[in-house]
Amino acid sequence: MDPQALDDAALAEIAAAATLDQLDELRVRYLGRKSELKLALREVRDRETGMALNAAREAVEAAVERRQQELERAELDRTIREDRVDVTLPGTPHLRGHLHLVTQVRREVEDIFLGMGYEVVDGREVETTRYLFDALNMAPNHVTRSPLHTFYLENGAVLRSETSPSQIHTMEAKPPPVFMVSLGRCYRRDTPDATHYPIFHQVEGLVVDRGITLADLKGTLRTLLRQLFGAEREAKFVTHFFPFTEPSVEVLVSCFQCGGEGCPMCRHSGWIEIGGSGMVDPNVLRFVGYDPEEVSGFAFGWGLERMAILRHGLPDIRDLWADDLRFLRQF
Ligand code: DAH
Repeated sequence: MDPQALDDAALAEIAAAATLDQLDELRVRYLGRKSELKLALREVRDRETGMALNAAREAVEAAVERRQQELERAELDRTIREDRVDVTLPGTPHLRGHLHLVTQVRREVEDIFLGMGYEVVDGREVETTRYLFDALNMAPNHVTRSPLHTFYLENGAVLRSETSPSQIHTMEAKPPPVFMVSLGRCYRRDTPDATHYPIFHQVEGLVVDRGITLADLKGTLRTLLRQLFGAEREAKFVTHFFPFTEPSVEVLVSCFQCGGEGCPMCRHSGWIEIGGSGMVDPNVLRFVGYDPEEVSGFAFGWGLERMAILRHGLPDIRDLWADDLRFLRQF
């Protein structure tokens, strides 16, 4: 074999290698264990030939090395050129969620009462009839006991139709004084329409201590109304009936749409119904082992959806649960 001819051919091909892969192939072909050059070197018998072959090998090795550096350099240049990040391009906006309107109202009411020193108590969505009805002084034939009104589960369990059982659990757990609110979901067999939905939320409030009077109820609920609906709001209290309060009062707020002039929102009365309240019935206090001669209390239970609807003038409660982001994003 002629080292010079081999060299010329190899060097030309190596210099022309277009990629690192190609170069690697050439390196194997010309310098690998089975290459012509290596085989020839193994056969060498005289010094002259040995030196010539070694010189040829070194030349090829140097050429591979050089070409490798060139190709790597070119590759690096290409990367730098093409993979450049254009920091002036507009970013992809991250969609941020936010709290559902009813959750916002819930937290707001919780904050108002925490600010007045109340504790926020968790309730149970699955109740027994004892807590949902008996403890709340409901007569055996009371309408809400009907399966047409309340969802019955197996083994006498019920989905609570109001948050009032939280009162009982709270009082059973500790002696007076009690200053608590409990907020959460309730369930009723209502056909959905603009003002009804089978799942809804209430805030239950309960205060029991020595010497609590109707004046405390009125002052507290007037404060709540003003925080929720504006500092100029007036409250009106009219007699009503609930089995667990005596006397019972329906609370109304002066219309914040028309300021009391009369408009569709207040049905031209100047007043808007907010929810029920009353002085805790002695039977309820007795049920939990409190002494109605010693302590008295007031309670209330209001709908959170109703607050949201009134505040924003929403036409239909069903919109709150239709999962239409175009609607929900407004709040
Ligand atoms: N539980 C009543 C309802 O769902 C609301 C209510 C009225 C709760 C008066 C009370 C109360 O605690 O004192 O209609």
